[in-house]
Amino acid sequence: MADVAHHVDMDEGLVNAAIFSDPAIYRQEQEKIFARSWLFLAHETQIPKPGDFFTTWMGGDPILVVRKRDGTVGAYLNACRHRGMKVCRADSGNAKAFTCTYHGWAYGMDGSLVNVPGLEDGYFNELDTSKNGLVPVTQLDHYKGLYFGNWDPTAPSLQEYLGDSTKFLDVMIDRREGGVEVLPGIHKWSFIGNWKLAAEQFAGDAYHGQMSHASAAAAMFEVNPPSADEGAGNPFGNVVGYQYSDQWGHGTGFSFDPRGQLFPVFFASEVLTNYYRSTHAEQIERLGAPFGYHTSHNNIFPNLSYLMPQNSLRVWHPRGPNAFEVWALTLVDKAAPPEVKEAQRIQSQLTFSAAGLYEQDDGENWSQIGENLGHGGTVINSLKLNYQMGIGHHGPSEDYPGTIGNVLVGEEPQRAFYRRWVEMMESDQWPIPEGDCAPTPLAAGQQ
Ligand code: FES
Ligand SMILES: [Fe+2]
Repeated sequence: MADVAHHVDMDEGLVNAAIFSDPAIYRQEQEKIFARSWLFLAHETQIPKPGDFFTTWMGGDPILVVRKRDGTVGAYLNACRHRGMKVCRADSGNAKAFTCTYHGWAYGMDGSLVNVPGLEDGYFNELDTSKNGLVPVTQLDHYKGLYFGNWDPTAPSLQEYLGDSTKFLDVMIDRREGGVEVLPGIHKWSFIGNWKLAAEQFAGDAYHGQMSHASAAAAMFEVNPPSADEGAGNPFGNVVGYQYSDQWGHGTGFSFDPRGQLFPVFFASEVLTNYYRSTHAEQIERLGAPFGYHTSHNNIFPNLSYLMPQNSLRVWHPRGPNAFEVWALTLVDKAAPPEVKEAQRIQSQLTFSAAGLYEQDDGENWSQIGENLGHGGTVINSLKLNYQMGIGHHGPSEDYPGTIGNVLVGEEPQRAFYRRWVEMMESDQWPIPEGDCAPTPLAAGQQ
């Protein structure tokens, strides 16, 4: 097992670049992080009917998610027990059974092996089909329609694992009665670079916006200029920002106008601006005034990120130490009218998608870092990277759970991410984080 602790010093705010490139560390992540964490699989609206399925990944393991005949959801390793062939080769669809295209073993929606060609002639009826079903994901649960899986039977419940981060997740998925649905389609694209570069950025890096996204922001505000009341003349409006992090490695940054105005971050969409304004009171009533914001970037440890108000939910699938894919979905309030759903789809594609204006900026950064590290240079791969912004300036808050920084920019969520990363990488037993693990109660009136 690689000694990873010496690569990460979060008291000093230093990270060795090797954690983004070392193949031994990548292999250890597969075992210690991805085979033990709760990982997002699919939203319930992607598989609404019996027989619906969706194929995805848990780290490097291929997964088949299905809506079973009885209406419940199942998740299995997408690998035939005969030679390991994919039993489902499609991205999504509806099926009565999954027949392996190699030799024809067939599996039911509950994962059981229901047909084997040559069972009599070849196996002389001696094959125990009951022992050769698809391997089920060990723990499967959902939070408000978001299904997660975990391979480790000793891992704590999904609710405990998500902890206080659900308060921030609710702002996107539970701001209106009925919750959200996934808009049809999924965007997938790939990067050079390490998956953690994207995950840590979504956990805590608003800092890059003023530099990396300067031209995109300038274009956006030219098309959709804010009024004087909304902060004209200030590229980020009249906003205040906060950062949240916790001992589970989850992180969030969010911002809003303290006078209750909507922070104007939509790209030329009056439809969306009006919609969020008109439903703002319902959101506050459901979630509490501190959670009345509409703009945030978030990461649920290890590799599920989401972004508001683009409502992009994405998984950073690791594909090797220096390669990853993003799979991005767009969520929208179920209760929203059709024109709002269409506007949300366009908004998401314009900004954060394979062709999104902002997405290009982020992908360029991660891939340039990957390019720098990917040729095996001794000096660059032992470079100590600086994560020192705001050390000692985050703490408890009256209004929010977890560890809070009263700033829009800072690196405490990134430090929390890597503290947790080290704990997971180094432990044999499933590591319950130190400190108060129960979700922190909010002040009266905010529940
Ligand atoms: S690999 Fe699936 S039937 Fe042989
Ligand atoms: Fe960005």
